[in-house]
Amino acid sequence: MTTRGRFITFEGTEGVGKSTQLQVAASTLRDLGMDVVVTREPGGTPMAESIRELLLAPREEPVNETTELLLMFAARAQHLYQKILPALESGQWVLCDRFTDATFAYQGGGRGVAKERIAQLETLVQGDIRPDHVIWLDAPVETGMARAKHRGALDRFEQEDLAFFQRIRDAYGERAAASPGRYRRVDASLPLTEVSAQVSAFLREICFN
Ligand SMILES: Nc1ncnc2c1ncn2[C@@H]1O[C@H](COP(=O)(O)OP(=O)(O)O)[C@@H](O)[C@H]1O
Ligand SMILES: [Mg+2]
Repeated sequence: MTTRGRFITFEGTEGVGKSTQLQVAASTLRDLGMDVVVTREPGGTPMAESIRELLLAPREEPVNETTELLLMFAARAQHLYQKILPALESGQWVLCDRFTDATFAYQGGGRGVAKERIAQLETLVQGDIRPDHVIWLDAPVETGMARAKHRGALDRFEQEDLAFFQRIRDAYGERAAASPGRYRRVDASLPLTEVSAQVSAFLREICFN
């Protein structure tokens, strides 16, 4: 029988190094002999990527917070059942750039949607499926923004103000405090090589457990 793979997500505010560390993590795990799938949210399948475009496009029309929340979970359902679960069941390790913790942080902390509403949708869409490990790359919001500022046109989220991202960071902090066994906080303000070393050390630790 194939052993189920692990589901590991990377969380944090803009520019802290999620995409960078996801690649580091994939190569660390491949070196350890694991079969790895790298994916992201919102997105990860053709249809979910189309929903991502709907979510990220800047637009004149104000976006209702429930519309945003439902689209996030619509994309997630497609991604989870079409890609993540089949990969885990075939023994692959899934590394995902953001997942439901990001919904609690962005739509909950950032937009002010009640946690209970998000938790209801989490149960509806995911049942009891949760990431096995959350790697939270934490750095001051300004640090991430400075790193990300060379990027091109800002998407609908990136256009928000500093206070929005501060609330998101705080929400991640609350979730990390509430689930210390699942969350691994990494100080993402450190130089890249040190952050990578910490992420790799954590993965080696869980690989042999
Ligand atoms: N620890 C670090 N120190 C300095 N620069 C970093 C660090 N981690 C990532 N970067 C750089 O910061 C930018 C944003 O990183 P990225 O991985 O795209 O962040 P995210 O995916 O979290 O938005 C990239 O140019 C990346 O090379
Ligand atoms: Mg990224």
